[in-house]
Amino acid sequence: MKKYAIIAGTGFDDYFKDSKEISISTQYGNVILNEIYFDDFIVYYIPRHGKDHSISPSNINYRANAMAIQKLDIKHVYGICAVGSLKKNLAIGSIVLSTDFLDMTKNRISSFYTDNNVKHLEVSNIYNSQLNNLFIEESKGTSLSTSEGIYVCTEGPRFESKTEIKLYQLLNCDVVGMTNIPESLLFGELNIAYSCVSYVTNYCTGVLGNISQDDFNNSNIKKDLIIKTILKCFYKDP
Ligand code: HPA
Repeated sequence: MKKYAIIAGTGFDDYFKDSKEISISTQYGNVILNEIYFDDFIVYYIPRHGKDHSISPSNINYRANAMAIQKLDIKHVYGICAVGSLKKNLAIGSIVLSTDFLDMTKNRISSFYTDNNVKHLEVSNIYNSQLNNLFIEESKGTSLSTSEGIYVCTEGPRFESKTEIKLYQLLNCDVVGMTNIPESLLFGELNIAYSCVSYVTNYCTGVLGNISQDDFNNSNIKKDLIIKTILKCFYKDP
C-alpha cells in the first residue's frame, strides 16, 4: 500500500487520536508517528511540537522526523504550518501554499550533510508543484481560501519587530512562520516530494497593529478541513 505523511503544528491531534502509535529509530533520535489505514493507502502523522506541544520551533528534531519518513519509504509529505500574514488582503484563516522561502533562521542544523560530505541542494523547486496544485484543486468548493505565496522562516520564539516585517513586505513575501525551515530543505535532500500548507493565525506585527494573542491562539481555524483536504489529495494518488 502507498504511504503518505502529514507533519503538523499544534491542534491537529484530534483527527489522529485513536490511531496506533509506532516508533521509528533514526541516527538522529526516535520518532513517534501515528499510523492510520485508509482504503488504498496508509497515512503517518507527526505532531511537530511533540505530543504535549512542548518542543519550541528551534528545538524540533527536524532531521529525525524527515529520516523516519524516509525509513518508512514515504514519497509524499504535506507539512502544515501556522503563520502570520504580511498582507492585509490575506486574512486570518487563509491557506497559503509555499512556492519559495526566505530563510531567516539562525540556530538550526539545516542539512544532513554537515560533516565532510558536502551537498549543495538546488532549492528552486523545493515545494512540490504537483502537491500544491492538488491541494488547490481539492480545496475548491470548500470554505478554505487557498493561494500560493512566499514563506519567511524566522528563528522565534519571539514574534518579529515592525522593521523586520517591513523588510519582508519589501521583498514581497506573504507569510511568516517559525517551522518550515529546515523541514522543507531536509525533504529536498532526501528527494521526497513536499508541500507546505500554511494557515494564517494572525496578522504580523504592524500589519494591522500589534499581534493579538487571541488571534494567535484562535481555535476557529478550520484544522479539520485542512486535514480532510489533504486526505482528498491522497485519494487522488499523487
Ligand atoms: N510570526 C512568526 N511565526 C508565526 C506567526 C507570526 O506572526 N504567526 C504564527 N506563526
